[in-house]
Amino acid sequence: VGDGNYQYLADVHLLLNQPSRFAHKGTLGQALLVGGSKGMTGAIDLATKAALRGGCGIVKVYGPGCTPDLPSEALVQRDINLEYIKQTPTIDAKTTAIGIGMGMSHNGQEALLEFLSVLPPIPLVLDADALNILAKHPEKIPTGAILTPHPKELDRIVGTSKSSFERWEKAEKLAKKKGIYLIVKGANTHIFFPDGKILVNSSGNYGMAKGGSGDILTGLLTAILAQGYPIEKALPLGVYLHGLAGDIAAETLGHDAMNAGDILTFLPDAWKLLR
Ligand code: APR
Ligand code: MG
Repeated sequence: VGDGNYQYLADVHLLLNQPSRFAHKGTLGQALLVGGSKGMTGAIDLATKAALRGGCGIVKVYGPGCTPDLPSEALVQRDINLEYIKQTPTIDAKTTAIGIGMGMSHNGQEALLEFLSVLPPIPLVLDADALNILAKHPEKIPTGAILTPHPKELDRIVGTSKSSFERWEKAEKLAKKKGIYLIVKGANTHIFFPDGKILVNSSGNYGMAKGGSGDILTGLLTAILAQGYPIEKALPLGVYLHGLAGDIAAETLGHDAMNAGDILTFLPDAWKLLR
């Protein structure tokens, strides 16, 4: 894969920005997370908590009417529809990055497609059901978007593969053809860039193979992008930090007992290790 463009992540700390000591919530960016549906509101909860540990100034959330109480720091807006998102969320001019799809369900299709047609030119992370919906409308995947599929979600877009290698080859082609960023998740998360570059993550462990881990990655990536990190830096930084927090969780709690929420608990330690 990758014509020699294949690199392991190293020196991740070099990717870090140093915010000014005069930074305020207006300069640190505003993340908007969109997702959730009846029975799958945990996904948006985890993504919100991850974004709140991701360093941006403001975290806004748009979910269906049944969205539960979220941490007080997040600004939550609820759709008039109870069970899934029906209306297109309005995008505040101050929004600097968007993450969409976590637990959204197929019922969110109409709202998602409408939303994609009114997007401002800011970084957009598409995950989970946003990917499942777009698998049926691949022509609607916006150029420059960041897609975070696990292998099955990628297969729905590019067709099934016989091996990981075949899948990675397809991902590389898709990223180049569509001009998108593809984070293919798993034990060795690969980041495919539109210019053909490929980064392979070296952090993370099987203790993270628990429901909700991916939603945390999306929240974290959206928060990092919201701060103005260039996409080329934000993706490796977020992917590596997420795995590092998982590694600290596994070391502290053990692979068996740790759950996705523990990645959130140890995100502060992961940031501090990098700083
Ligand atoms: N080693 C390292 N990292 C791992 C490992 C492993 N063995 N297993 C999983 N991970 C990491 C992945 O790299 C990824 O970041 O955990 C995360 C898992 O993400 P997802 O596969 O998206 O899983 P999850 O968060 O449970 O998704 C929740 O969303 O994608 C939909 O329908 C899907 O019900 C699912 C829901
Ligand atoms: Mg997922």
